[in-house]
Amino acid sequence: MTEKSVSALLKSRISTRAFLDKPVSESDIREILEIAKFSPSGGNLQPWKVHVVTGAARARVIAAARQSLSGNPFAVESELAIYPPNLWEPYRTRRYALGEEMYEKLGIPREDKAGRLAHLARNYEFFGAPVGLFFTLDRRFDKGQWAHLGMLMLSIALVAEERGLATCMQEAWTTRAKTVCDELGIPDSEQFYCGMALGYADKSAPVNALRSSRAAVEDFVVFHQE
Ligand SMILES: Cc1cc2nc3c(=O)[nH]c(=O)nc-3n(C[C@H](O)[C@H](O)[C@H](O)COP(=O)(O)O)c2cc1C
Repeated sequence: MTEKSVSALLKSRISTRAFLDKPVSESDIREILEIAKFSPSGGNLQPWKVHVVTGAARARVIAAARQSLSGNPFAVESELAIYPPNLWEPYRTRRYALGEEMYEKLGIPREDKAGRLAHLARNYEFFGAPVGLFFTLDRRFDKGQWAHLGMLMLSIALVAEERGLATCMQEAWTTRAKTVCDELGIPDSEQFYCGMALGYADKSAPVNALRSSRAAVEDFVVFHQE
């Protein structure tokens, strides 16, 4: 485990998109969750639900996703849109820039549509990570509880980082929500949000050299003083 400060962990965590074929023990996964559960939530509701897949369950989910993708890779099974329609500035440009930087690292030019689709499809294999997490919420919860779920997710990512593990949050799984829920027997009373890959980073993979940029504090903070 590193001795890194929270500030250092926040800066070193990245979305890892290539993992080693190296298992993560159940005790390590449990330990991460035991610590991440101290995330705050309004009213201490702790509204989150996490479904962890490893081994045969992971393989089943990946196979089911592959099958549903081969039917129609653009079919969306989620009730949640990953982005709002007609994304406006500056968000549109940020999203575009991330995609271009990522495909540049991967060496996949814009014309290579098949290559880009193949990379996107790696989402549904957890980018090779041995552990997959799926986050759901009771459908009766509202926007507040969605924010609290996000706090748990970041905590998991940071505690994993502290232990030398890597993560990638994956809204891509949202498009396969029904497939995942059917495969894992997640009841309809739970709304599927997102996946997360967890494992050891393949540090030699070019895609993991991507460091996304951030806007300046002045771009998103207003100091009200008078
Ligand atoms: C909720 C959430 C969902 C995400 N879903 C995906 C995804 O499906 N696939 C992917 O490659 N990256 C995904 N990302 C990663 C973002 O692209 C990434 O966090 C952002 O570009 C900032 O880069 P960084 O995480 O490396 O700092 C997701 C991030 C978040 C927070």
